[in-house]
Amino acid sequence: MPGLAVIGHPVAHSRSPDMQTAALSDLGLAGEWTYGAIDVAPEDFEATIAELSAAGEYAGVNITVPHKEAALTMADEASEGARAIGAANTLSFREALIVADNTDAGGLLRSLPESLGMFAAEGEGPVVLLDAGGPDAEIATRRALVLGAGGAARAAIWALASGGEGLAEADEEGRGDEAPRELWIPAFEVDVWNRTTERGAAVAAELGAEFVAEPDPADYALIVNTTAVGLGGEDAFAHLPLTADSFEPDQVVLDMVYTEEPSALLAAAAAAGATTVDGLEMLVQQGALSMRIWTGEEPSIEAMRTAVRR
Ligand code: ATR
Repeated sequence: MPGLAVIGHPVAHSRSPDMQTAALSDLGLAGEWTYGAIDVAPEDFEATIAELSAAGEYAGVNITVPHKEAALTMADEASEGARAIGAANTLSFREALIVADNTDAGGLLRSLPESLGMFAAEGEGPVVLLDAGGPDAEIATRRALVLGAGGAARAAIWALASGGEGLAEADEEGRGDEAPRELWIPAFEVDVWNRTTERGAAVAAELGAEFVAEPDPADYALIVNTTAVGLGGEDAFAHLPLTADSFEPDQVVLDMVYTEEPSALLAAAAAAGATTVDGLEMLVQQGALSMRIWTGEEPSIEAMRTAVRR
């Protein structure tokens, strides 16, 4: 019976067990696979991963705060994205090997609306994101603003700047019998803003983005908040370089913070007519990619969304 789990500290409030159990149920694997939560303090992380990998009972784990960097250092093999980002949110235990991936990057791209992409193939089936290359059409490079410079920001900057190049493969078959609608999200020109300038400038330089001290929100097709601002009820507009009237109808605004109600940032963006994406949608998409890595099957995004928003 292959085991799966999310490992974090704390982890009791994680929505991943409910979400991933729903994914397993929908795939008809719930009798065979399990998905739990394991709270592991930082000092015990290495030993725990070594044990889980050696015991042979676990197929893999999702990794969350504060272990994502340590997870990468434990890996025998790592995807290009995990290495560039410097963190892993997915480990797979294959025989004696620990393999690291970062599905936060692909999850972010997959949570973006179709309006930011171009269709390479217009089928009747579900949207499948192409991991590289798209229609042979010239399009102007769009700009994205990433707020923050921590691990979540690194995944966002890398994903947006690379346009998905080198990310986990899309399932060519899609789900069901209908031909998939292949969507390609072209790479963005990425600007980074961070409260602490030096950290923001260093991350931007490393990942091929530009640091901006005073961004003009109107310059961007996409604005992504990766900071924790809003999580503790702080006023987002007091801490971020945005105001409640910063947003425009043709923009997409993604806030990785997830709260019960839409965040103040997303509420203001929606009021301006912008398209909004919340942290739960990203959680679903990164989790689906992890599930695909472990089981080789394409889980139901709808079943996962329902479970996560319950
Ligand atoms: P994660 O790995 O989840 O991204 P992190 O590495 O702790 O977490 O990074 C948190 C990010 O939120 C940082 O960009 C941090 O800014 P600093 O680099 O200046 O610390 C940002 N952040 C946290 N609280 C903030 C606040 N009150 N105002 C602005 N930015 C904040």
